Amino acid sequence: MPSVVDAEELARELLEPLANRWAHVQAVAARADGLTPAIAGEDDRQLLVVAAWWHDLGYSPALRDTGAHQIDGARYLAVEGYPDRLVALVAHHSAATCEAEERGHLADLEVWPREESAVADALWMADMTTGPRGEELAYDQRLSEILSRYEPDSIVGRSMLRAEPAIRAAIDRTRQRMQDAYTI
Ligand SMILES: [Fe+2]
Repeated sequence: MPSVVDAEELARELLEPLANRWAHVQAVAARADGLTPAIAGEDDRQLLVVAAWWHDLGYSPALRDTGAHQIDGARYLAVEGYPDRLVALVAHHSAATCEAEERGHLADLEVWPREESAVADALWMADMTTGPRGEELAYDQRLSEILSRYEPDSIVGRSMLRAEPAIRAAIDRTRQRMQDAYTI
């Protein structure tokens, strides 16, 4: 498992030239770090934060291939030999199945299993409550922000609308875990 410091370094190298994306990723990593109380165990907490640094690597022009950034990022990490679980979390972040299907790349995504866990839920929440320039947003605001940048009938628009129930459920479970962490 890479360290958080190494994860930040690679993310910076690949994404810093994309100014807004880099701001978004830094904020998602910080948000994920704040959600670690929802995760049991140090290893999984580290996994969450590393996955947050790397979830959008596939937007880097250097890695772009299928156009589904979740798959492009995951393929790069797999080739580099990073742990399968980490690769799969990046591949499936924020209900990637919907977008992969819309783009005709579902089979490419499904080479990785979709983990259902506190780590996956917190990663989705960190991403889906952080705006495109790193601003903190409620999920409803984030969804309408996405639908204002991409037409509701575009690939991304349709994907995000289909993904809505799964993302909402992941956020609710994470909120509950955060609450439990502070009330026990
Ligand atoms: Fe993201």
